[in-house]
Amino acid sequence: MSPTPHALGEPVVRHEARLKVTGAARYAAEHTPPGCAYAWPVPAGVARGRVVSVDTADALDIPGVLTVLTPHNAPRLAPADDPVLAVLQDDRVPHRGWYVALVVADTLEAAREGAAAVHLDYDIEAHEVVLDAGHTALYVPEEVNGGFPAVRERGDFRSGFAEAPVRLDASYRVGPLHNHPMEPHACTAEWREGRLRVHYSSQGATLAGQTAAALFGLEPEQVTVVSEHVGGGFGSKGTPRPELVLAVMAARETGRPVKLALPRRQLPAVVGHRAPTLHRVRLGADADASLTAVGHEIATHTSTLKEFVEQAAVPARIMYASPHSSTVHRVAPLDVPSPSWMRAPGEAPGMYALESAMDEVAQLLGVDPIELRLRNEPAEEPDSGRPFSSRHLADCLREGAERFGWERRDPRPGTTREGALLLGTGVAAATYPVYLSPSHAEAHASPEGGYRVRINATDIGTGARTVLAQIAAAALETRVENVEVEIGRSDLPSASLAGGSSGTGSWGWAVHKACEALRARFAELGGRIPAEGVTVTADTEQETRRGSAYSRHAFGAHFAEVQVDTVTGEVRVRRLLGVYAAGRILNSRTARSQFTGGMTMGLGMALTEHSGMDPLFGDFTESDLASYHVPVHADVPAIEVHWIEEEDPHLNPMGSKGIGEIGIVGTAAAVANAVCHATGARIRDLPLTPDKVL
Ligand code: MOS
Repeated sequence: MSPTPHALGEPVVRHEARLKVTGAARYAAEHTPPGCAYAWPVPAGVARGRVVSVDTADALDIPGVLTVLTPHNAPRLAPADDPVLAVLQDDRVPHRGWYVALVVADTLEAAREGAAAVHLDYDIEAHEVVLDAGHTALYVPEEVNGGFPAVRERGDFRSGFAEAPVRLDASYRVGPLHNHPMEPHACTAEWREGRLRVHYSSQGATLAGQTAAALFGLEPEQVTVVSEHVGGGFGSKGTPRPELVLAVMAARETGRPVKLALPRRQLPAVVGHRAPTLHRVRLGADADASLTAVGHEIATHTSTLKEFVEQAAVPARIMYASPHSSTVHRVAPLDVPSPSWMRAPGEAPGMYALESAMDEVAQLLGVDPIELRLRNEPAEEPDSGRPFSSRHLADCLREGAERFGWERRDPRPGTTREGALLLGTGVAAATYPVYLSPSHAEAHASPEGGYRVRINATDIGTGARTVLAQIAAAALETRVENVEVEIGRSDLPSASLAGGSSGTGSWGWAVHKACEALRARFAELGGRIPAEGVTVTADTEQETRRGSAYSRHAFGAHFAEVQVDTVTGEVRVRRLLGVYAAGRILNSRTARSQFTGGMTMGLGMALTEHSGMDPLFGDFTESDLASYHVPVHADVPAIEVHWIEEEDPHLNPMGSKGIGEIGIVGTAAAVANAVCHATGARIRDLPLTPDKVL
């Protein structure tokens, strides 16, 4: 074997690849402690009201049913920071699907049968679940998700827009979208001698452990949360969810380990969803294609339990130069499930609207849409005036155009036919911010020459475990095979969530720092490693809290080619191509897979994914994979992913930006712009299903 250390960027195969493909990797619901009982939750059957009575007699008669927990008999928890965790704490029903009982039984079948036999009486109140742009409940919040101000004004948008020679004023809509990770939300909880051990499908076992300790009045050391393998999350497993509370509660009440895997059809009501967004985008431009006014207003919903505001107008603050700008978020609290994070909250719907509007303005001006974007590249971040740490959007657009063959495009819409098919191409930009959070890591060297890195990072399928080994190997100047990585347990050094595309950068920084400290320790020891080995720890509390004087974002460009069937109205994507500028790419294999996955999710957002809200029942109309259509292999063309080598010294020691979310940003706009190019018709409401296209 070559002694050359592994370089960052190499396509190292996932460490757990074999475990996963052979089924040896154990997920949260695949741990069955001796004596394990099973739980099945009962969702509320009304959209608003109170539980007056729960008749559990029939359920308790079912052989194997151990107990039925209800708002009337469930143990009281310490007050929860997150109101969605206060399950079975009072009789209020804030939305349909809110859990109102939990059946625990010897078998899964008995628990499920028991859940169906629980009879509930409600005091039903009138509900309000439908968002419209004129909704009287809309208000401007203090801030929106991510801590951004809800409103930003720059220059004088009103007159800037009124005086612009070319104006677009267009409304777009993105309906509610659901997180449907392949592994549903699941938890196996076990109490052992006053200690709680939980296998939990989570994007962050540190936060899950802290939350469980706080709710159940335990010391943090009494709780261990294990999230060794996680089958996707997309934000829905970023914060602890009711299944954690219910499983722990049930285990304590029954004195048995309890397993609770949420049925997929219940997920939309309890794991967060992407709230619908209604967009009004106003763009003013000079005849020379310089934007003079950028306005993006959105209306969205939240629940009555908590305020979560999809920050969809935020990307308009950083994308394009213009002297006048106005970005506004409004939110209406409705009797709906609590919305939350879903891959690129804010950017995904926001950039669909903004990048569609850019395409429309390009058409009005008669300029090429790439040219329009290039002409409006800002010298610094328009919102704050801060310099970009790096911004290679123009390079992404140019390289993408060349690779895609953009110059062969006939700009006239509706002109390319193949029998009954109309063909078109479209482009859109992408952006995602760089987030970095404090993390702690430990590095250990054994006298035999091996290394071990320990950090409570979570690999939700991204390849993070492998990339952390690469980061350690690079810092230690050794081969990646010499590094063992332990992650996914709350008793490891604490680390931030696998969220906001921040995981690898945040954890990697702590790992890098620990490995550097280890090398410094070697130097002190003169290279002699004692029998017990050498162990050091490091954290990035200071570095990450210091923030940056720079505006830090990844950028990208998405290109799509579509065919539109003029007989059926079916849109199919023939080609998708993305070029990204996301700092240093740390593992070309797993990075490609992240980008491809994001683009695939963007394709779903463009063409098939949609949830309706039934006004009468107050429920999502698409809640399982039979009705909520995620793209399948037959829907996904060959996706091409490229990136440019970007050097950015203002990020972290690896020079990396996050890559987990940018793939979904702008993809739907590229597809929608291609559909408009194919047909000449602009559809401003996703997804582009045949009923709208025809
Ligand atoms: Mo992502 S929506 O921050 O898990």
